[in-house]
Amino acid sequence: DKGNHRHFMEKEIYEQPEVISHALSHYVDFHSHEVKPVDAAIDFKSLRGLAVSACGTAYLSGLVGKYWFERYARLPVEIDVASEFRYREMPLSKDQAALFISQSGETADTLASLRYCHEAGLKIGAIVNVKESTIAREADAVFPILAGPEIGVASTKAFTCQLAVLASLSIAAGKARGTISAEEEKQLVKNLAEMPRIMSQVLNAIQPQMEALARDLSKFKDVLYLGRGTSYPLAMEGALKLKEISYIHAEGYAAGELKHGPIALIDENMPVIVIAPHDRFFDKTVSNMQEVAARGGRIIFITDEKGAAASKLETMATIVLPNVAEIISPMVFSLPIQLLAYHTAVFMGTDVDQPRNLAKSVTVE
Ligand code: F6R
Repeated sequence: DKGNHRHFMEKEIYEQPEVISHALSHYVDFHSHEVKPVDAAIDFKSLRGLAVSACGTAYLSGLVGKYWFERYARLPVEIDVASEFRYREMPLSKDQAALFISQSGETADTLASLRYCHEAGLKIGAIVNVKESTIAREADAVFPILAGPEIGVASTKAFTCQLAVLASLSIAAGKARGTISAEEEKQLVKNLAEMPRIMSQVLNAIQPQMEALARDLSKFKDVLYLGRGTSYPLAMEGALKLKEISYIHAEGYAAGELKHGPIALIDENMPVIVIAPHDRFFDKTVSNMQEVAARGGRIIFITDEKGAAASKLETMATIVLPNVAEIISPMVFSLPIQLLAYHTAVFMGTDVDQPRNLAKSVTVE
């Protein structure tokens, strides 16, 4: 049932504050602001590394997770798309654990990677939405994302719930490993607890602007997304969302890679969507944006209040989100990215919930 929404995708975008709150309540205590104990099968304290694998959007959530595990838990993360991971013959050791991320829990390559790590004797954690799935059954520890059924083929709420779970687990890992203090833990959990309310506000505030901007975006054939730090996987996720449902060609790049190739493509026919909260990377990203502007590129700038105040560049559009804590910015900044792809596809008249050539669950290699 789509309720009063035109598509399941739209419904699922607007459900995010509620489902994320539900997901978080499974991993953190909203009163004491502590993380809840993690399934003992994954002993973060003794681990030397984490091997992470997934496909598509789930892989991109894992890539954000890598930044968090490395930063908060000082835990090295090896991550790859499942179709490569399983054939790489990478050296694995039993002091690593393996983490697989899958909405459906049935993706063939992810399952094969899981079995490969199981053979190698690693403990297996599974971040899944469907708890009765094969991947969940074969894992030593299951971390549910509790997003509820996701019907739209383009993943939205599963992505942000995966992020919420990964953020919580990275704090739990940091606590177990003694790499964050009790005070830092409390602050991070407080930040997570504020997220559902902030997401609701943002969804309501930006909708009209996203719809209007989508009209402009639908006239282009190519779009480039740029970001640094955790905004880099978000840039790739933005490009993936746009290409799968609107069929506009889009690419996501690390902003610092611009001058190593993609800058050759910049002209007035390829808008550049820059994802840049006012974080420690902001100035660097702005200098990449200047390089785009200097070559006649049109910029869609997705930033926060501080970022908007700090940049004087002329843009095609500037989307201003509230200033939020660094740990929640990937979830908050997912919202304009999802809405922009959604409204562009609606405007172009594509089959939003069932884009051509795609299946919700990919059970063949
Ligand atoms: C993109 C999308 C796909 C899936 C991928 C993995 O919007 O939905 O890229 O993320 O096929 O699927 P799961 O998470 O079920 O393993």
